[in-house]
Amino acid sequence: MTRLQADAASRYMAWAKLYSDARFNLAISGVIDYPLAELPVKIEDLEIGGTGPYGYEPLMERLAAKARVPKDCVVYTLGTSMANYIALSAVVHPGDEVLIEQPTYDPLLTILNHLGAKVRRFERRAEHGFRLDLEEVERQLTSDTRLVILCNLHNPSSSLTDDATMKQVGELAAKIGARVLVDEVYLETLFDQPWQSAFHLGSNFIITSSLTKAYGLSGIRCGWVLARPDLVQRMWQIVDFTYGSPVHPAERLGVIALDNLDRIRNRARSLLETNRPIVNSFLAEHPELDCAPSRFGTTVFPRLTTGDVTELAKLLRDKYETSVVPGEFFEQPQHFRIGFCGATETVREGLARLDTALKSIQ
Ligand SMILES: Cc1ncc(COP(=O)(O)O)c(C=O)c1O
Repeated sequence: MTRLQADAASRYMAWAKLYSDARFNLAISGVIDYPLAELPVKIEDLEIGGTGPYGYEPLMERLAAKARVPKDCVVYTLGTSMANYIALSAVVHPGDEVLIEQPTYDPLLTILNHLGAKVRRFERRAEHGFRLDLEEVERQLTSDTRLVILCNLHNPSSSLTDDATMKQVGELAAKIGARVLVDEVYLETLFDQPWQSAFHLGSNFIITSSLTKAYGLSGIRCGWVLARPDLVQRMWQIVDFTYGSPVHPAERLGVIALDNLDRIRNRARSLLETNRPIVNSFLAEHPELDCAPSRFGTTVFPRLTTGDVTELAKLLRDKYETSVVPGEFFEQPQHFRIGFCGATETVREGLARLDTALKSIQ
C-alpha cells in the first residue's frame, strides 16, 4: 500500500504505518526499542526450529508463571494485535452484540466489524479524564450483550481502571452471561505496583497483552491471551488455521527477555520517570491544552481548546518534523495523543516544536 486508502480496514493502522513517522515522533505509545546487544543472547541460544505443537514449552511455562495462571489458560500469540484477533474470533459470532468503550483503539473496532458483530458503545468522558464509569457501562448493557471490551490502561488517555471497578464490570457482565475482554498491553507500565491481571477478578474475563509496549520489545512480538481452558483450546484451533506455528527464534528471544525482565523493566521505568515530568511541565505551561497531568502509562490525550487539530498536526509534521496522533483516529477530533515514551531528547525537542506550532496557530 502506498497511500492512505479511504477503505483501509483500520484507518488508524494505515495512518500509523504510512504517515506517523517523523524525526521527533510523539505518535508512538510503546517504549523505544530495547537494544538486542544489551540482552545476553548468543547465537547458540537461537534455533530455527524447535517449537512445540501448541507453544514452546519453556516460554509457555514462563508466561503462565508470570501471570500466575495454569498453563492451559495461556495462548501464545504474535503481539497483542494477534491476541485480540484470536480472542475475539473465538467468542464473537456474526450478529453478536458487543459493548466497547469509546474512545478506543481502532483495530478492536475493525476486528469486530470484520467478525460481523453488532457494536454498541459506552462512553468514557473527556471531562472525567476518560475514567471508566460503571453506571455508563450498566446503562449500555442489554440482555443481548455477549461481550464487553475495554483497555486498561486506556488508549489514548492512559487512564487506569482499578481492580475494584474492573471486578464490578465483570459482575455486571456476568449477570447477563456476558464476558469481558481487557486489553492490558499498557498495564505493565505501572512499574511500582505489583502486576496483577484482571484475569483473576472473575471467571468471565479474557485478557490480551504482550511484552511490546512497556518493555520496548515490540519487534519480538511476544504476546498472549489468558482465558479459561475451553476457550484456550478454541483459540489454539484458530492459530492452527491462521499462522499455524510461531516464529521459533522469537519464542527463544521471548524466553531470554522474560528471564531478564527486571533489567528491561528498569530501563523502561527510568525512561518514563524522566519523561513524565517533562510532559507534565509542558501541559502546565499550555492552558490551551485541556488535560490532567500524566500519572500512568506512556501517552496523554489533551483537548485543543481553540484551533484545529488537523491543521496543527499537519503543520507540526510538515514544518517542525514532529508527529502526534490526531484525535480523529480515536473519534475525538478536538484531541490529539502525545506519546512520551521515546528517547528523552526526542520528547523534549518534539514538545518544544509543538510549543512553537501551538503559538503559530493561536
Ligand atoms: C490498546 C492496544 N492494544 C494492542 C496494541 C498492539 O499491540 P502489539 O504491538 O502488542 O501488537 C496497541 C498498539 O498501539 C494498543 O494501543
